[in-house]
Amino acid sequence: MTRIGIFGGGQLAQMLTQAAIGLGLETVIFERTPDSPAGRLTQREIVGAWEDPALAAQFAAQCDLITLENEFVDAGMLAALEAQGKIVAPTAAAVGLVQDKLVQKQRLAAAGLAVAPFQAVATPDDVVQAACAFGWPVLLKARRNGYDGYGNATLHSAADVPAAWERLSRGGGLLMVEAFVPFERELAVMIVRSRAGAAARYPVVETVQEQHICRIVRAPARIGPAQAAAASDLAAAAVAAVDGTGIFGVELFALADGRVLVNELAPRPHNSGHYTIEGCVTSQFENHLRAVLGWPLGQTDLRTPAAVMVNILGRRNGPAPADALQAALAVPGAHIHLYGKREVRIGRKMGHVTALGATLAEAEAVALRAAELVDL
Ligand SMILES: Nc1ncnc2c1ncn2[C@@H]1O[C@H](COP(=O)(O)OP(=O)(O)OP(=O)(O)O)[C@@H](O)[C@H]1O
Ligand SMILES: [Mg+2]
Repeated sequence: MTRIGIFGGGQLAQMLTQAAIGLGLETVIFERTPDSPAGRLTQREIVGAWEDPALAAQFAAQCDLITLENEFVDAGMLAALEAQGKIVAPTAAAVGLVQDKLVQKQRLAAAGLAVAPFQAVATPDDVVQAACAFGWPVLLKARRNGYDGYGNATLHSAADVPAAWERLSRGGGLLMVEAFVPFERELAVMIVRSRAGAAARYPVVETVQEQHICRIVRAPARIGPAQAAAASDLAAAAVAAVDGTGIFGVELFALADGRVLVNELAPRPHNSGHYTIEGCVTSQFENHLRAVLGWPLGQTDLRTPAAVMVNILGRRNGPAPADALQAALAVPGAHIHLYGKREVRIGRKMGHVTALGATLAEAEAVALRAAELVDL
């Protein structure tokens, strides 16, 4: 049986494992702590630090192919695995380009793709100077290891710089600054590129973030055909610019004048693609596996006029109750996914709900109602 190794054992690895089982594949999960959402689904769970060479070797020995559920893997280690003859997808080179937001933006800009003005900064003074050039507000971002907005701060004046600098550079990480984009809406596109050379695009969707965390995804986005085509082309070009293999999430900003900018790439399944499980002919997870194996890709079309996904975010801190779903299960048409996380934290992604419909409004009402009724 073909074994796919995954760096990470969270919900993305869990849903990848579910898709792997359906294709007759097995996964090997390498996660820092035991009893992860994905680790529970396989007998092959390696627990410990990814940086531990002995554990990494033990992991690699069990896998025919290695992939990842987050980009916080040392690209040098991935390159070492490739040098030993392991297939790593996405490649070490692609992960290296994407995992540093500055290097990623430089690559996208060098490929002639539209991004917000950005600059590397070494001191708080550099931030003020960049903001004078770009105009306030600006975003200060940690170049690495940011997620769900934890690595970002919006700065409205020079007075905001010291505290944000302190918070984001704690631990010695490098920072960058970006012009604030007055977007009309945020879009996302999942792009899949196979090791065999084929590529496919999922529909352009609209994402709604609250406090920097994705809350709602609407498929398709409520934009005109010209802007949708521009977003789709830009997303495909962005993944080609880093020579991505497997599934990539591309986050975009749509401006009122019709222009579209790339915000960032994720070299893996993405929250904005969860709707594909029920909403599309082939899910992002299945297509990722097909792509990294060099198998024929599945169709990416919507199976319904509209699909809406709503994240289930923790509303308390403490152990997850066993009966959290009782009320939500009564909502007809709601496809509810819980990730089996033992602990709830405020704002933590605990699961998601997808609803399909004839219209976005109809699907959204169902998904929101069910997500609201989940007691987590
Ligand atoms: N230059 C910008 N202008 C305006 N808003 C921005 C900008 N950059 C980021 N944001 C807002 O902050 C959100 C999170 O930013 P970004 O995607 O860079 O961070 P992240 O922590 O990697 O996010 P995630 O893991 O949720 O994708 C964006 O979805 C957007 O709402
Ligand atoms: Mg993002």
